[in-house]
Amino acid sequence: MNSIIIYFSLLGHNRRIAEEIAEKENCDLLEFASGSIFRGFQYLMGKKRLAKKAKKINIDVANYNEIIICGPIWGGKPAPAIKALLNNLDMKGKNVNCYMTYSQDYGNSEDIIKDLIQKNSGEVQEIKFNKISKE
Ligand SMILES: Cc1cc2nc3c(=O)[nH]c(=O)nc-3n(C[C@H](O)[C@H](O)[C@H](O)COP(=O)(O)O)c2cc1C
Repeated sequence: MNSIIIYFSLLGHNRRIAEEIAEKENCDLLEFASGSIFRGFQYLMGKKRLAKKAKKINIDVANYNEIIICGPIWGGKPAPAIKALLNNLDMKGKNVNCYMTYSQDYGNSEDIIKDLIQKNSGEVQEIKFNKISKE
């Protein structure tokens, strides 16, 4: 299995998780939309521009048959960067796993993620939510 891990992380949890998986499984690692604290502020202030910017993605996954996406839950949903990835990656015929972190509540994110993967012709594999104990 030729796999790539793509992650978005603001506070570093997903970066660490993605790095650990990459080392253990010996797969490629890519940071998407590098996390800066301003993204969190922009999100909270409802700046739509951020979502538009995040949509311009240019990641070639042609050489991989498995995609692993790691990222946080924001506002009870996958963070905008993760939604942009799920919306725009070419997942046709790929096995797609999602490992998300949250601190309190992830609402119906599992269904949101499944729908986006399927809409994008990907094969849903594992979708997991890890509660982080400390911010
Ligand atoms: C703007 C923002 C919104 C968040 N909203 C939620 C939420 O609705 N539910 C929840 O359980 N955690 C929420 N969190 C906590 C994040 O899920 C947690 O900080 C994240 O999983 C940590 O991942 P990271 O270190 O890779 O950024 C929020 C965090 C931020 C910054």
